[in-house]
Amino acid sequence: MNSNSMRHAGVFVIALLGATSAFATSTGISGNSGKDTATCNTCHKGGEAPTVEFEGPSTLEKGATGQYTLIIRGGAAKTGGAGIAVDDAGASLVAGTGLKKLGTELSHSAPQAFTGTELRFNFSLVAPATDVTLNLFGAGNSANADQKSDGDRAASTKLSIKVGTGSPVAEQPGGDEDEGGGCAAASSAPFWALALAGLPLAVIRRRRS
Ligand code: HEC
Repeated sequence: MNSNSMRHAGVFVIALLGATSAFATSTGISGNSGKDTATCNTCHKGGEAPTVEFEGPSTLEKGATGQYTLIIRGGAAKTGGAGIAVDDAGASLVAGTGLKKLGTELSHSAPQAFTGTELRFNFSLVAPATDVTLNLFGAGNSANADQKSDGDRAASTKLSIKVGTGSPVAEQPGGDEDEGGGCAAASSAPFWALALAGLPLAVIRRRRS
């Protein structure tokens, strides 16, 4: 085998393996949502940057499913893709049309056509069963549909979502202890009333034994 035919064999294998290869990123790539700083712009250059935003609820009940959309506006605006991730292991993402699951993240399944100057990716997020504030990270690439990484540009966005109370343990804010003294004094009255009311009973019981 000369080096040229080996390269072709390699390309053939990559084509067979499909989406997982870094050489076939038009069918999806993970790790570029902006969650770990990297975005699509590591490779996609030359185009005008789009604006990217999430649409969807910023609060969810524990274990509830919320409907979200990553919207890409402007840029080359022919085709586009997305990378979406969440920073809480108890939460999960469910792909809508044009998206697929890649590990714990979501990615475009293939470049999706813009409608006018806008491209929308719908998905849902299943909240964890715990009180927590989590972050949704999304990168959206606005591409010129030339099947190359040139002439494209991505932007990224983040959305904080409060699940339940939004914090794992309801912490006592500082300075509460002083106020607590007054509170405890007031609430101790019923306590003593009850204790005194029980006293005669206790005395009777003791006499009987
Ligand atoms: C490691 C480099 C790399 C990264 C990172 C990368 N891509 Fe790509 N992407 C490419 C290359 C190379 C192509 C062209 C070859 C192909 O079609 O796979 C491409 C093609 C595309 C295309 C088609 C572009 C066109 O003009 O036809 C889209 C859409 C796309 N990528 C989306 C994304 C999105 C969204 C991200 C970030 C979440 C991303 N890519 C991250 C390398 C990358």
